[in-house]
Amino acid sequence: MKPDDLQPPPGWTLARRAERMNPSVIREILKVTERPGIISFAGGLPSPLTFPVDAFRAACDKVLREDGRGALQYAASEGHGPLREAVAALLPWPVDPAQVLITTGSQQGLDLVAKVLIDQGSRVLVETPTYLGALQAFAPMEPEVLGVAGDDEGVDVAELARRRGDARFLYVLPNFQNPSGRTMSEARRQALVQTARELSLPLLEDNPYGDLWFDAPPPAPLAARHPQGTIYLGSFSKVLAPGLRLGYLVAPPAIAPKLLQAKQAADLHTPTFNQRMVAEVLRGGFLERHVPTIRALYKAQRDAMLEALAREMRGLDVEWNAPAGGMFLWARLPAGMDAAQLLPRAVERGVAFVPGAAFYAEQADARTLRLSFVTASREQIATGIAALAAALRENPRP
Ligand SMILES: Cc1ncc(COP(=O)(O)O)c(C=O)c1O
Repeated sequence: MKPDDLQPPPGWTLARRAERMNPSVIREILKVTERPGIISFAGGLPSPLTFPVDAFRAACDKVLREDGRGALQYAASEGHGPLREAVAALLPWPVDPAQVLITTGSQQGLDLVAKVLIDQGSRVLVETPTYLGALQAFAPMEPEVLGVAGDDEGVDVAELARRRGDARFLYVLPNFQNPSGRTMSEARRQALVQTARELSLPLLEDNPYGDLWFDAPPPAPLAARHPQGTIYLGSFSKVLAPGLRLGYLVAPPAIAPKLLQAKQAADLHTPTFNQRMVAEVLRGGFLERHVPTIRALYKAQRDAMLEALAREMRGLDVEWNAPAGGMFLWARLPAGMDAAQLLPRAVERGVAFVPGAAFYAEQADARTLRLSFVTASREQIATGIAALAAALRENPRP
């Protein structure tokens, strides 16, 4: 029996918000992909080859040697001072370290914003498609989530104006979006910020992938253009390691204290030890040396996937994009096909992906799918894409 089919025993009543909590489709798929021999393009896992183990070993030793007791003690909810300073210095607009709230991953940032800004029935706007984990974080607050259509350049600002209503905010991922890999153009960023100002529509900007560009950095963040109207979320998961569970948010001063109170209730503070280690690792410009190595690896992996797609999908009417950074590529099957139906056939042939439908707040495009190009090796990418093409060939066209 699946956990969601279980009925609580007599005396137990689940909160209504618990009904809105869903198992992540991706986590369900990941269970399948853990089977030996499956090449997985499904997970959003950074390549473990990029984790700077030696730098952490040295930092761990130094932190414990110099102030081990302090590093193991309870600490301030706002976060470790030197880490907040390092984050403020990394951001490309003037940020006072006092504005930085260290979070337990940017996923916690999404949860805190949901708690502080969403009432039952509040309208929330998201891109089409959008990050599944954000939909999961918003859902327990029982919002009405509306998708805003877009194109290759980002959200459609005319459509945004039509859907604004009394929306609490627009959740937006301008850089190498999860799941679609798209990047918002400079012109669209300007138009979006102007529209947000005109509509007095707050923005929630999520930017875990912005540093992972391949040829040129993306345009400046929305928060840099409109700090009073934007809550900005950042993360160390993709530039250092996700197991640290370290992220941060920068909010307008009038909103920040409420987010801090929500954080106190959630977990008192993000693990002090991890914060101190990362502050130590960052010292001396570590990211400036380390991040280019991640970019080079991921660019080569993206190229391997693009080459394999061009070779294997010939004549199959599949479309895909060429993301300029990040971890994901977005593909679309021919008319009438459904990526969820293709998945079991693909798994039989030893390859997995995430059907795109899970990433839509409203009407899903069942033809879409997300392919991560960073976790599998280049050889596995070639084999996996060939297996995917074979599964497509045997899939009866409607
Ligand atoms: C768009 C986006 N936001 C937030 C997160 C959460 O990241 P973390 O909590 O590890 O910082 C992810 C993770 O994949 C993501 O893709």
